[in-house]
Amino acid sequence: MRKLAVSAAMTSALIATAVAAKEPTSTNADAWQRAAATEKKMTDTERVVMTSGITALPNAGEKIPEDAVLGAGYVAGIPRLGVPALKETDAGLGVSWALGARGNEGATALPSGMALAATWNQELAYQAGQMVGAETRAKGFNVLLAGGVNLVRDPRGGRNFEYFSEDPLLSGILGGYSIAGAQSNHIISTVKHFAFNNQETARKFGNVTISEAAARESELLAFKLAIEIGNPGSVMCSYNRLNGPYTCGSEWLLQKVLKRDWGYKGFVMSDWGAVYEPGFAWAGLDHQSGRSSDPQVYFADQLLTDAGTDAKRKSRISDMNRRILWAVYSNGLDRFPVLPGEKIDKAGHEALAGEVARQGIVLLRNERGALPLAAGAKSIAVIGGFADTGMLSGGGSSQVHGDGGPAAMIPGGGRGLFNGWEQYQRGTTPLAAIRKRAGQDVTVTYRTGNYIAEAVEQARKADVAIVFANQWQSEGRDNPDLSLPRGQDALIAAVAAANPNTVVVLQTGSAVLMPWLDQTAAVLEAWYPGVQGGEAIASVLFGDTNPSGRLPVTFPASLEQLPHPVLPGHTEADPDKNGAGAPGQQVTIDYNVDGSDVGYRWFARQGHKPLFPFGYGLSYTNFATSGLSVKGGKATVTVQNTGGRAGATVAQVYLVARGKAATRRLVGFQRVSLDAGASKIVTMTIDLRLLADWKDGRWSMPRTTYYFAVGENAEALSSPIGIRLPAKRWAD
Ligand code: GLC
Repeated sequence: MRKLAVSAAMTSALIATAVAAKEPTSTNADAWQRAAATEKKMTDTERVVMTSGITALPNAGEKIPEDAVLGAGYVAGIPRLGVPALKETDAGLGVSWALGARGNEGATALPSGMALAATWNQELAYQAGQMVGAETRAKGFNVLLAGGVNLVRDPRGGRNFEYFSEDPLLSGILGGYSIAGAQSNHIISTVKHFAFNNQETARKFGNVTISEAAARESELLAFKLAIEIGNPGSVMCSYNRLNGPYTCGSEWLLQKVLKRDWGYKGFVMSDWGAVYEPGFAWAGLDHQSGRSSDPQVYFADQLLTDAGTDAKRKSRISDMNRRILWAVYSNGLDRFPVLPGEKIDKAGHEALAGEVARQGIVLLRNERGALPLAAGAKSIAVIGGFADTGMLSGGGSSQVHGDGGPAAMIPGGGRGLFNGWEQYQRGTTPLAAIRKRAGQDVTVTYRTGNYIAEAVEQARKADVAIVFANQWQSEGRDNPDLSLPRGQDALIAAVAAANPNTVVVLQTGSAVLMPWLDQTAAVLEAWYPGVQGGEAIASVLFGDTNPSGRLPVTFPASLEQLPHPVLPGHTEADPDKNGAGAPGQQVTIDYNVDGSDVGYRWFARQGHKPLFPFGYGLSYTNFATSGLSVKGGKATVTVQNTGGRAGATVAQVYLVARGKAATRRLVGFQRVSLDAGASKIVTMTIDLRLLADWKDGRWSMPRTTYYFAVGENAEALSSPIGIRLPAKRWAD
């Protein structure tokens, strides 16, 4: 039985092994030799078996094989050669519910990717991935379609909750460690959606335009880091077009960048419904996923027909198989076959989900010491957010539920497969957790918030009012703006007007506007907090947990501050059609506007002041960072807990100028826990790609003075220190 709870030391050791995987370890090299040997033994008919797979769900248009597990996908193996079938499940936040196809058998629901990102804790990311990977195996799957590392380019993006951050370093590192954790269970993980699928509107017909330099310095760097650290068996290409071709048929993206420049050994699988011709195989796609989602089966036998006697195409088909086999062998799917029914440490898994939730909660505002809740509070009015029902979760293929399925589903407004129902996860509800923690002699009332006057009445009578406010996000649809839906902004304003001691607890997919902010006493961002989210929120509210989350995305002060105040394609596309459009419909999504200056970098370039900056978060104690030095590719800084209680913070080092040219790039970060009064010297390795530009096909650092600053967010930074560095150029 896999013990999940490994010590930090063991995790570090495990991670070291995983990270070392970025070098061709014996496993990787052996796997490649074994793959070549097996492929040589294949017949031509066998060579097309694994090039396509089915959606293993009822009514998906294909007969489901006996040995399939109901879920995202199934790929037949080659028993004659000992190659196992691939049984695929979503996704990064837990083994997905798959629309309830497996009955009431659920899984441990992690908090959202945004919550995990707010921990800035790669060890925790590894353990989260390891936990999901263990449950993947226990349910009979051997492929986890996880590792979503697309950058959060637009706060309205419908899948932001699944992703990590606006920054390539933070996204790449956390994504890489979670992939490594998942694959430590001898299963394949993906990294996805390669690349630039950063919005749901027009996802199937949007054409993303971006220069190569901006592409390499932003999202491609996130993918490169995730691949270096996580060594994923497969890369999932995305729905959108990139500078013309669909990514799944882009020779530049798949053959040049991924396979030649980066030396990637695994296989590229398509997203479900992202293939439009057999030619995608010749452009570098290795596997047509969920083939009934496409207009036709373009791979499988069709490839043999299309290849005919063309030696180059036949060699490509051999390469497709070698790559799939490399993923199987390098992760030991043949040596450690999945045996359904493996026991899992459910309590341990839920405790881990709770730890992610606690570390991911960001304290955004805390006036007059409103939090932690005063011990003397005798009456608490809890309002809204379905806080008596469950924890909000994100919609789409990554939707997870525990045993018994959703605690509640309310119409989400969409008509697509995924975006129809806003779903709440079972567990101790926030209201129950607050009642339990408050104790018998505190009166805790609850009102839904549907009727503002009634809620205000309760708030007025209470010592403290806690308003839960939710913003649902889902695959298949973007949020039209950054307001809180269903009149919650008005509700919060009315409650805060009635009781100055109003605390707002946000459960949002990513950034929202807060027109009521100045009227409130405190604001917590809890994201989608997962199965133990209720307890985690109560733990922070009552001070059992000192909040340590730091924003992985910028919270804008208005839509006008964004590179695209109107989401590209929003007017043309039907937001509820799962990003699909009319045949031949085209929308240009121009990322050359911000280029590689995504998020906080854009705000710094434009001189915009956000509502809350990237990296921001308050604590119940205080920290000071000092003594920044940068030498030999490492940044060193002293962090001190100058307050009265233990806590954790994240030291962040930014490049703020090169010569006379101002810039803003996160180049290193380190989460650090300290007792009151304690201090620690932390050291971070600086990845030179963050100091460079992509020029003429290579990374290029000019000879100049590089200025670095340290702080606890992208705005509050120390005076910079400068070091001269020589010019340097190198390949990706
Ligand atoms: C979906 C998603 C992808 C998921 C796949 C299988 O449409 O884009 O993330 O892994 O299909 O469910």
